Amino acid sequence: MQDAHSLFDIAGKVILITGGNKGIGWALSSGLAQAGASVVIVNRGRESGEAAVQAIQAQGGDAYYLQADLAEPQTMPELVLQTIQRYGRIDAVINNAAARINQWAEAHTAEDWDYILKVNVVSPSLLAQSAAIQMKRQGGGTILYVSSNLACRTIDRRSSYGATKGAIEALARHQALEWARFGIRVNCLAPGSTETPELSNRMRSDTPRYEALHQMIPLGRPARPNDMLGAAWFLVSAASEYMTGQTILVDGGWSIASMPKSVLFAP
Ligand SMILES: NC(=O)c1ccc[n+]([C@@H]2O[C@H](COP(=O)([O-])OP(=O)(O)OC[C@H]3O[C@@H](n4cnc5c(N)ncnc54)[C@H](OP(=O)(O)O)[C@@H]3O)[C@@H](O)[C@H]2O)c1
Repeated sequence: MQDAHSLFDIAGKVILITGGNKGIGWALSSGLAQAGASVVIVNRGRESGEAAVQAIQAQGGDAYYLQADLAEPQTMPELVLQTIQRYGRIDAVINNAAARINQWAEAHTAEDWDYILKVNVVSPSLLAQSAAIQMKRQGGGTILYVSSNLACRTIDRRSSYGATKGAIEALARHQALEWARFGIRVNCLAPGSTETPELSNRMRSDTPRYEALHQMIPLGRPARPNDMLGAAWFLVSAASEYMTGQTILVDGGWSIASMPKSVLFAP
């Protein structure tokens, strides 16, 4: 019988995480490194990426930094090559970094669409494709896309963002189907509203909106970045070995709430 604890054993696994220096990505890269994985952090700002690597190393973890801009899809294969040069393998890719354009639906330009599709769909897919070629040689691996509850739900001024998140969930299902025969699993993690340092300041400054948001979350608060770690760990580990093409929603119950709590639970 398999030892239950070994299901979550990711010691020595090589995991590349885009945007692993900040917000949800930082919760994932620092948490998975603590669990024994070697994490490759990819983002644009070299200083904050290297600082994240040093912070992980200071805790006794293993991390490596690669600079890239997801607005340049042609550079994605190089990230996988450099990971292989450093570690000899790649076990998981977490496509976490994303762009948002907070703009009314009718005001989006062709340039806006070009940019957000490149960052949120084209580059993550090319990164997954390059990794899949290597994973096929290795006999397997996992791809995890960080989607959003806005793939299925709506708020104002997020049409292009929501569209890209819906696109990666569909993409994940198709890649999952095609790559299952190579032992590669592809899943999505969809956070609800999450208080990253940057976002929470902006959210809190808009008090009525912030309070309305609380009203829609049965578990009583927006997510913290660390709330995403358990589901991500599950999805990159053997614990989810029979799961592919799925999305796990981690949203405090927002998606099941039909009305604000003040109305639902009014005496
Ligand atoms: N926060 C939420 O409420 C929430 C809710 C649902 C889903 N999500 C999803 O969760 C993921 C993480 O969100 P977050 O709020 O934690 O993000 P964040 O705090 O804004 O951090 C974004 C990270 O991605 C990197 N990044 C951004 N654009 C990039 C680019 N063009 N190329 C390379 N790296 C880039 C940033 O580093 P550099 O700036 O140095 O490049 C940063 O590390 C995203 O996919 C987001 O859509 C977030």
